[in-house]
This record gives sequence, C-alpha cells and structure tokens, in this order.
Amino acid sequence: PSAAAYEATVTAPVNIAVIKYWGKRDESLILPTNSSLSATLSQDILHSKTTARADPNFTGADTLWLNGTPEPMSASKRLANVVNALRAKRAALEASDSLLPKMSKWIVHVVSENNFPTAAGLASSASGFAALVFALANLYQLPEAKDGEAGAGRSTLSALARLGSGSACRSLFGGFVAWEMGTHADGRDSVAVPVAPASHWTDLEALVLVVHDGRKGVSSTSGMQTTVQTSALAQERFKSVVPQRMFDMKQAILRKDFDQFAETTMMDSNQFHAICLDTFPPIFYLNDVSRAIIQLVTDFNATPVAGYTGKYKVAYTYDAGPNAVLYLPRQFVRPVLALIQHYFPAPTDVPAADYFADPYKVGVN
Ligand code: PMV
Repeated sequence: PSAAAYEATVTAPVNIAVIKYWGKRDESLILPTNSSLSATLSQDILHSKTTARADPNFTGADTLWLNGTPEPMSASKRLANVVNALRAKRAALEASDSLLPKMSKWIVHVVSENNFPTAAGLASSASGFAALVFALANLYQLPEAKDGEAGAGRSTLSALARLGSGSACRSLFGGFVAWEMGTHADGRDSVAVPVAPASHWTDLEALVLVVHDGRKGVSSTSGMQTTVQTSALAQERFKSVVPQRMFDMKQAILRKDFDQFAETTMMDSNQFHAICLDTFPPIFYLNDVSRAIIQLVTDFNATPVAGYTGKYKVAYTYDAGPNAVLYLPRQFVRPVLALIQHYFPAPTDVPAADYFADPYKVGVN
C-alpha cells in the first residue's frame, strides 16, 4: 500500500422501529409519508463494520465489498448519491485549504461486513448506510465527523445516511430516536432527533429472534411504493394514526411507562403488517413461526406473575421480514427465553451456542 493512502474504520448499530416508517413521499430525497421512532440496539452483537480507504494509486471504479462481494458503487444510485455527497464535502474543504491532500479525486474502496444476516428484515441497510457515511466522513476528515450526538454535524451526517436508506438516519444516534417526517419539499426538516439516551431506560432489553435468515422477498423500496399507490388503509395510517402514536410513544419513553410503550409498539407492528396485506398485490412478511411468537407473547402477557402489576411483560415488533424483536424489562428476559426454548427448540443441526447467543449482550443499552 502506498504511504499516501488514508483509511478509516467504524462500526454502526442497528435500530429497530417501534413506530414503523413505511412509505415515501419523495423517492430521490427519501422523504417519508409518516414520522417514525426506534431504539438503537447495543453494538455488541448486531452491527455493521465498515472500512473506507482512499488511495492515489487505486485504479478503476469506486468499489464496495459488502460481506465479501465486490460491487461498483455506481451500480446503486443510492450508494453513488451518498459517496458523491461526502466527496463533495471533502472537495469543498480542499478548495479552502490548498495544503490538504486531494483525496476527493482518488478512488475509494469500502469493505463492509454485517455480523448478522443481510437483508433479512434485520435493519442491515440502516446500520450499513450509517457506517458508510460515518466511515467516509472520518476518512475525509470532515468537521462533521468530530461532532458528538448533540452537534449539528451529526444531524448533517444523519441526513446523508437518509439518502442511502431512510431508516439509516436513525442509526447515527444511540438510545431512542425519532425521525420527524417534516413538511418541506427539500427535506430540510425531515431529520432524526434523539428522544432519550440509552442510559435513560436501562431496564429495557431487546431480544432478536431470527426466524429465517434468508433474504426478504419484497424489498422495502418496492414494497413501500406499492403500498403508497394501492393501500387506502395506509393513507388513513399516515393521516390519523401515526401522529398520535408518535406523541404516545415519546411520553411512554420519557416516563419509562412500559405498558404504554409495549401496547403502542405491538399495535404499530400489527398495523404495518396490515397495510402490507392491504397492498395490492399483497405483501406477506410474517410467516407461521412469526405468528406463533405473537400468540406466545399474547398468552404470556395474559398470564399473571406474582408481584408484577403491569399489563404487559413483553412487546413484539416485526420489520420487513419474519424475524421478531422483543422489547421487555430485564426481569422477563430469562422467563421469555425459557418459553421460546420450550416452544421452538433448537434444531438438531445447529450448535446450541449459535442458536442462543447471550441474551444480555443484545440489550438496548
Ligand atoms: O430504510 P428502509 O428502506 O430499509 O425501510 C425500513 C422500513 C422498516 O424497517 C420496515 C421500518 C422502519 O421504520 O425501520
């Protein structure tokens, strides 16, 4: 490698929405039809790790190796948009300081790995684009990369991640994060805003249940388009349901009110899958195992536990795939895992250690 080359490596976390984003009002700026809200999961188990390298000796095209498979970045419009936006920021820096190396003119190689199934409805695009933006911002030594979560620079990077994948804008922040849909046509107010840091609600855990780790059938991009074009229920959701739920969910988080949090989370997951079913032709992300998990959670919530006065003990939510994410107070992690193990025993061909990763490493915090 040439001595003049520059490189940066970062990791970015996955976020799992409790109020789902599903629908775009602007396809190229990636502006949503509704606001959404998520929790960023701990990076210990689920993350994207990305290295970006600029080298004056690289030839050919900007290339991304995603989990080992190379692809020219120009093959994806979104990828190209994100790289070009960061390169333009670097070029502006170079224009104002002639001593800076002209990195903006060099070819970039990016290597990105998810330590979990890609495109299986586990929000890999969110952590992936968040990591890409952060890696390039560090590589190019942009002032935005130095800003902490409270800084304006982080919001700028979040807006750039949004151009790659809408949900990625929420992965630039930890804890509980809202993506306010905004009203402006240019997207200036369609931004991710932290609601509360992870340290605010340390008792809340997340369990990720991988039901199927294959690629999902309908991509979120094409699924959202068809939903917006065909579902009358979706229009009702955007207009009359989500605004109130955003309010309820923020209150629930700020008050650490698990009952309110759980009920809103489950109802919103249900409605997201209902608008998928109301899409024509319909989209089915849940399978029989997903539905059996919903039933198990419902039954467990209806079963009294001595000394616990809450209405709910666990909440399920599903993205664009069959895998469940459960949010629950820490005291219920062991009992819920015991139930899962009982009703969905480990397949004989999978080592137990792979089937059950340490649940305490998959928390929100
Ligand atoms: O950002 P995308 O295009 O991968 O869409 C993600 C949509 C959901 O994961 C289903 C919901 C959400 O808000 O994350």
